[in-house]
Amino acid sequence: MSSKRRVGVLGLGHVGLPTALGFAELGWTVAGTDSDRSKVESVSAGVPPFYEPGLEELLRRHLTSGRFRALPEIGEAVRQSDILFICVGTPHREDGSADLSQVEGAARTVAENLDSYKLIVEKSTAPVMTALWVERAIQRYGNRQHAFEVACNPEFLREGTAVHDFLHPDRIVIGANSERARSWLRELYEPLGRPMLITDRNSAEMIKHASNAFLALKISFINMVSDLCEAAGASAQDIATGLGLDPRIGAHFLQAGIGYGGFCLPKDLKAFIHVAEELGVNFGLLREVERINQGRIDRFVRKVQQALWVLQDKQLAVWGLAFKPQTDDIRDAPSLHVVRRLRQAGASVRLYDPAATQEFRRVFAEEPDRLVYCSSALEAARGAHAVLVLTEWPEFGEMDWKQVRGCVALPIVVDGRNFLDAAALRAEGFEYHRMGEASLVPDGIKI
Ligand code: UDX
Repeated sequence: MSSKRRVGVLGLGHVGLPTALGFAELGWTVAGTDSDRSKVESVSAGVPPFYEPGLEELLRRHLTSGRFRALPEIGEAVRQSDILFICVGTPHREDGSADLSQVEGAARTVAENLDSYKLIVEKSTAPVMTALWVERAIQRYGNRQHAFEVACNPEFLREGTAVHDFLHPDRIVIGANSERARSWLRELYEPLGRPMLITDRNSAEMIKHASNAFLALKISFINMVSDLCEAAGASAQDIATGLGLDPRIGAHFLQAGIGYGGFCLPKDLKAFIHVAEELGVNFGLLREVERINQGRIDRFVRKVQQALWVLQDKQLAVWGLAFKPQTDDIRDAPSLHVVRRLRQAGASVRLYDPAATQEFRRVFAEEPDRLVYCSSALEAARGAHAVLVLTEWPEFGEMDWKQVRGCVALPIVVDGRNFLDAAALRAEGFEYHRMGEASLVPDGIKI
């Protein structure tokens, strides 16, 4: 390593912790910190505060190597660092705009602890011109004795593969105003040997919002095509494959189903729409993307109703609560809405998820009636009138359907992610319903 520059990471959540450990893995010395003391304690003890494949191993490795430390005092982390990444949360407010209070809080702490030149890097996803505001905040609240700069380096880490994504990025985007800031960031990422796009700060911020908005748009597009397939008797799966073979379109993010969830896509889309409105640009296309996604829950519940007729007093197994596989995150997960709707319709729900059950139980702690938490997919299926698949965890694809058949009350599966093997299910006598396909019940009636 050519320099001894020290890295600081403010915020040890889904973005901050993989980023901090990723830099440690690249050989840099990193100090991480968070305003949540319990998070800092847990990280210091070698236990990540959330489930992310490969993260615990990396954490333990770099607590041992001494290249990573979690500090309880934010000011100390600031003073001990030359480059500071702001990785705090940017949740959305009621009106869809991004709540930047945590970003401002981080900027003020930096300002109060500025004791030498530092490069402050906005990594959290935030609206265009946030870097400018961070700069102003540090100027306003600081002592003006030390120079600093603010750059933007958006993250593209997916939950479930965040460690891999950090170490093997498709691109690294750097938005900076000075050659010093650009060269410091280039140097930091140099060991990865990946393409870097160097641009101005506004463009870097916009690349992130536009990327997530485009991913959401692809999903809503394929979901509408899937509805059309269902009505016309075409195969949504084959159409996605046919589209994806065109490199101008690309094969990713064309999986039809119950729609996108999670902490990023829904909130970033809202924030992007809000930014456009503030700037006087009518980006109605994105409102439509959002509307289509919200309609997926209805569509799925209707499918369950079509399969079972009446939901009152039915036992339903729900497989998968996390918003996607390999995470315990249920923020804005379709499961939250689906389970509420099923209960409203009078059904009882038997829930199973390999990682997210605890989190789900916490959210539903005040409204636990007609929810049974199960420790395996098979247990959830016991006595169920239908099995509903809401997350494509690999273990659901590897089920022994003969065994499942032996414990359900009715052999009905409704797959919200279109990923189970239809032939294997039908061979065991299951009625199999999926999104984008008219359901054929055994007596040949199309529903
Ligand atoms: C996203 C971006 O992908 C990542 O680059 C960014 O930095 C953070 O936000 P993440 O929130 O982890 O990552 O989830 P992502 O993999 O994008 O999936 C979002 C949602 O879309 C999930 O609910 C997923 O199930 C759904 N999805 C994804 C589909 O419904 N169909 C698809 O084809 C792909």
